[in-house]
Amino acid sequence: MAEMRAVRQNVLRDEERLPPVPDPGVMVIFGASGDLTARKLVPALYDLAAQRRLPMEFAVVGISRTEMSHEDFRKKLLDTLEEQRADSVSEDVWASFSKGIFYLPGDSKKPETYEELKGFLKKLDAERGTSGNRIFYLSSSPSLFPAIVERLGEAGMNREEDGGYSRLVIEKPFGRNLDSAVDLNGDIRRYFGEKQIYRIDHYLGKETVQNIMALRFSNGIFEPVWNQHYVDHVQITVAEDIGVGTRGAFYEEAGALRDIVQNHLMQVLCLTAMEPPVAFDADSVREEKVKVLKAVRPIPEDDVGEAAVRGQYDGGWVFGEGARGYREEENVAPDSETETYVALKLLVDNWRWAGVPFYVRAGKRMPKKATEISIQFHKTPHTPFSGPDTEGLEPNVLVIRVQPEEGVSLKIGAKVPGSGFEVRSVNMDLLYGSAFLEEAPDAYQRLLLDLMLGDPTLFIRADEAEGAWRILQPVMEGWSKNAHAARYAAGTWGPEEADDLLGRDGRKWRRP
Ligand SMILES: NC(=O)c1ccc[n+]([C@@H]2O[C@H](COP(=O)([O-])OP(=O)(O)OC[C@H]3O[C@@H](n4cnc5c(N)ncnc54)[C@H](OP(=O)(O)O)[C@@H]3O)[C@@H](O)[C@H]2O)c1
Repeated sequence: MAEMRAVRQNVLRDEERLPPVPDPGVMVIFGASGDLTARKLVPALYDLAAQRRLPMEFAVVGISRTEMSHEDFRKKLLDTLEEQRADSVSEDVWASFSKGIFYLPGDSKKPETYEELKGFLKKLDAERGTSGNRIFYLSSSPSLFPAIVERLGEAGMNREEDGGYSRLVIEKPFGRNLDSAVDLNGDIRRYFGEKQIYRIDHYLGKETVQNIMALRFSNGIFEPVWNQHYVDHVQITVAEDIGVGTRGAFYEEAGALRDIVQNHLMQVLCLTAMEPPVAFDADSVREEKVKVLKAVRPIPEDDVGEAAVRGQYDGGWVFGEGARGYREEENVAPDSETETYVALKLLVDNWRWAGVPFYVRAGKRMPKKATEISIQFHKTPHTPFSGPDTEGLEPNVLVIRVQPEEGVSLKIGAKVPGSGFEVRSVNMDLLYGSAFLEEAPDAYQRLLLDLMLGDPTLFIRADEAEGAWRILQPVMEGWSKNAHAARYAAGTWGPEEADDLLGRDGRKWRRP
């Protein structure tokens, strides 16, 4: 009897460990003929289908103005998938997954599009068993977000009826500044409750970004030293080696501050600086992130020159190849002052971080692609070894590499073999790739699954989006008065002014 109970408990435990499969439902994608749908959303859904993580009763409905049949749309998506995956697309998986893909041509500004959509979704409920569950994914130009939300609301598609859910997904960028983000939140809240809203920052779907929390909160050794008593300063770098490529027109409107700093970089800052949440659930985690944003000291507009640097790349060399300057890129004004590089010194005014600067930077056309957080600890108060013996010794640095070569390294002092007592810094390295056999899923895969399961932990809450803009608003206003962006050559680590930002504090940027 006891044996049977033990067996049953083991079976139960195995079942508990099985990954959950979402309820039946439909994902309606606005902007379906666009780049994101073909390159990211549909491949992520295909991967979920291949792993049997999608319910059989699942459907995608794409909407945009281009005239296409369901079959044309499926073919376009398959072509992109095959370009990405060469021969590895499974015919069987695609055949079964693509049966649930549909396309409705229509203008997302026009009410009739929504009437047609409503009828089509009812039909899918009846024919495919999608159970009245709807996800509305806004993958269109941000200027269309308010109109789509309003039309959905007018058509009553925001309402959660008969046990079905209605969720709204908003792509980045969330507003262009504080006022527009507040307005957008207001527009959305007229029709959707916060629990229905999923603001995406795909950085949060990255395994290694989630690993920042795992490293901090599942190890006893880091938290005791994760504060101003032990940490001298923190550096966060989001560097790209590429330029703007064909996205010149988009980038002219955005710039690095809006494209990277307001969302990805601020999120990484929050995860690095936040207090341990009481649980890994949406409210607990987001509450702690918002507290960090509130604690960041606003940069007075008059001090923007002291605490913020913006730069733009000139021509130069990247990986041994000539690279043209930003102003020579396609669809970029020849006198453009749009920033392709930003560096900021931020202070987090709370008990844990008082007096510890967070230096953050994001740039294009850097010598390499690298996203990393480095926690630089105080120097030892005294070393018993002689001066010349410790010339190669640096303070301890814990580096969390988000990409590439995801992992963690700790710089420690070690004795150089041989006589005498020469001490030098060496790295203790953990590479996630060699520690785990499983391949990390793509960020969108994780986020789309969470979305279908109704878990908003890795999505941005309204006050987070506004909190990040509140920090950057004075910087944007300061820059609007002084149009000049500092120059740096492509293939270098940014303008001299950025080195001075740390130099004034007696510090230096780390070379990732
Ligand atoms: N692409 C990326 O890698 C990426 C990464 C992060 C975030 N995002 C965000 O994701 C969103 C989509 O980006 P994207 O690159 O896919 O943009 P995109 O390639 O410009 O696609 C947007 C689509 O919207 C459709 N559209 C425009 N006006 C419309 C209207 N009035 N009614 C219906 N459809 C309309 C257009 O198709 P028709 O001409 O056929 O109507 C277009 O194909 C944006 O908010 C972007 O900032 C994109």
